[in-house]
Amino acid sequence: MKRSALILSMMLIFIMALSLGVFAQADKAQYVGSAKCKMCHSSKARGNSYGIWAESKHAKAFETLGTEESKAIAKKLGINEDPQKADKCLKCHVTAYNVSASDKAASFKQEEGVGCEVCHGPGSLYMPMKVMKALAAGKQDAKAVAYNKGDKTKCVKCHNEDSPTYKPFKLEEAWEIIAHEVPKAQK
Ligand code: HEC
Ligand code: HEC
Ligand code: HEC
Ligand code: HEC
Repeated sequence: MKRSALILSMMLIFIMALSLGVFAQADKAQYVGSAKCKMCHSSKARGNSYGIWAESKHAKAFETLGTEESKAIAKKLGINEDPQKADKCLKCHVTAYNVSASDKAASFKQEEGVGCEVCHGPGSLYMPMKVMKALAAGKQDAKAVAYNKGDKTKCVKCHNEDSPTYKPFKLEEAWEIIAHEVPKAQK
């Protein structure tokens, strides 16, 4: 009797460890795509960050790789692939470049170009209203939900001389073009 009880409890511990492992995986943040942010970030009162982004060149970055200009740039660099499939172009022109398929939700589409999640982190864990409000209030650990509040020093990860069409990057001027602040009254 005693022995079978021991075996049973060991099995229980094993099953619990297994399920914890599974939970840990389910808790990994996934890229959901900018369209998921639209429903809460389109109103004027909240600064319309979605609308500002959708009108920006970042939202066209994948489309750009389909133009004749892009094909000519690639050819000149000896890239014989379609730029929309070439790693050497995609690495700066899409969200979640080099991220495995399991870390992207079904709603994610690389056609969105340089989306919100490039700068704010994969959204699946932080996008629920409760978490967003807690983050804004400074009551939620950002790391635990893969959230990034936005860091202007990271722009040069793409805006640098590895870009075949590089134009000297002036941070403050560039930020003015894509700035999306929440009006003070909302905060
Ligand atoms: C269910 C609604 C909802 C969704 C979906 C949502 N947000 Fe938010 N978000 C909010 C609210 C509410 C705030 C708090 C500030 C406010 O009221 O505008 C906020 C604040 C933010 C902030 C500023 C937080 C801070 O640190 O002050 C960022 C950045 C942000 N959201 C990005 C995103 C991104 C990127 C997505 C999509 C992946 C997204 N949000 C999806 C509701 C949402
Ligand atoms: C993942 C790479 C990436 C990051 C990070 C990035 N950008 Fe960009 N950005 C691009 C690409 C690619 C384009 C060109 C899109 C196109 O024209 O199709 C672009 C275009 C722009 C443009 C338009 C330039 C023009 O000629 O009109 C501005 C402004 C800009 N980015 C500002 C910023 C700022 C500010 C940051 C940081 C807060 C930033 N970007 C971070 C990739 C990036
Ligand atoms: C290191 C990051 C990076 C790589 C790699 C990259 N791009 Fe870009 N691309 C950018 C950024 C940033 C911009 C916008 C600002 C600029 O031109 O400097 C841009 C803009 C462009 C534009 C618009 C130019 C304009 O004048 O508006 C085209 C076309 C383009 N890229 C094509 C390509 C092609 C084709 C490849 C692959 C051969 C490629 N890019 C690789 C970052 C990159
Ligand atoms: C190229 C990078 C980049 C992209 C793309 C981007 N953001 Fe941001 N975002 C930032 C940075 C950087 C900040 C912080 C600015 C600062 O330091 O004040 C920020 C701040 C914010 C804030 C807080 C504004 C405030 O006044 O507190 C919200 C909300 C937000 N972003 C939502 C979004 C949403 C939604 C998208 C996509 C539709 C998006 N962002 C796309 C870089 C980006």
